[in-house]
Amino acid sequence: MNITSEDNYATIWQENLFKGKVCLITGGSGDICKEQAKALIRLGCSISIVGRNAKKVKSAVQELGKYKEVDNKANVIGFGNCDVRNFEKIRSAVRDTSERLGKIDFLVCGAAGNFMADFNHLSVNAFKAVIDIDLIGTFNTVKACFEDLKSTKGSIIFISATLHYYGVPFQSHVSAAKSGIDALARSLAVEFGPLGIRVNCIAPGPIGGTEGFNRIVQDKTILKEDPDPACREKIRYCQCYHISLQ
Ligand SMILES: NC(=O)c1ccc[n+]([C@@H]2O[C@H](COP(=O)([O-])OP(=O)(O)OC[C@H]3O[C@@H](n4cnc5c(N)ncnc54)[C@H](OP(=O)(O)O)[C@@H]3O)[C@@H](O)[C@H]2O)c1
Repeated sequence: MNITSEDNYATIWQENLFKGKVCLITGGSGDICKEQAKALIRLGCSISIVGRNAKKVKSAVQELGKYKEVDNKANVIGFGNCDVRNFEKIRSAVRDTSERLGKIDFLVCGAAGNFMADFNHLSVNAFKAVIDIDLIGTFNTVKACFEDLKSTKGSIIFISATLHYYGVPFQSHVSAAKSGIDALARSLAVEFGPLGIRVNCIAPGPIGGTEGFNRIVQDKTILKEDPDPACREKIRYCQCYHISLQ
């Protein structure tokens, strides 16, 4: 395996661990989920990324393609203009993925929306939009992938956060949405266990330099261009651990 200096954790994983596997990642063109995709590709997994912004998805597919090892035959495809709030859109991306890459083995639900807003300025529509993207979008994606995951005895990773463990002001919308994701993960983990589908939930703390963090930070002088390298490595391979458990 071609190990780069930014990729130290890769050495602990068996080469081609996920060869022949397929992972669909919502929000895969965003900073955190793109790092997750890189780790999976390095270990042989084919990737399908989903997002609304078609240009961003296209450029992420190109970037991710460079992480593919020559001999592992992993492929990367992307679906722009795909909003996880729209069940038909996500179902169609899932169907196309299955046809082009094979049935989905792993699902990462990372699509999310966030912004700072105090309750007084948080409109009914804005609150609903975050619940719709984070929570309903996660549900829609699992629903669309369920038949594939049942037949592959696959694995699901939800992406939550830690801010709802305590009260964080101006974040009531995302706190409520991520609490819902935690609850969904617990219920589905128990319900899907007998079907052979594993459900785990990763809860990152704030990671400097990421798209989501840069959007909400008030003091723009502390913004970094790239995600914190140590967090980036942990995020990449923490999901590989969960996915690789049998
Ligand atoms: N960054 C942090 O510090 C932090 C901390 C804790 C948890 N998290 C969680 O980690 C995950 C990734 O965070 P991030 O900072 O890398 O990126 P992010 O800005 O939070 O969102 C990730 C991606 O989601 C996609 N997305 C948003 N709405 C969508 C929709 N309706 N349909 C389909 N895709 C949609 C966006 O792409 P498009 O614009 O192309 O749709 C975006 O690139 C999120 O779940 C986030 O809540 C992040």
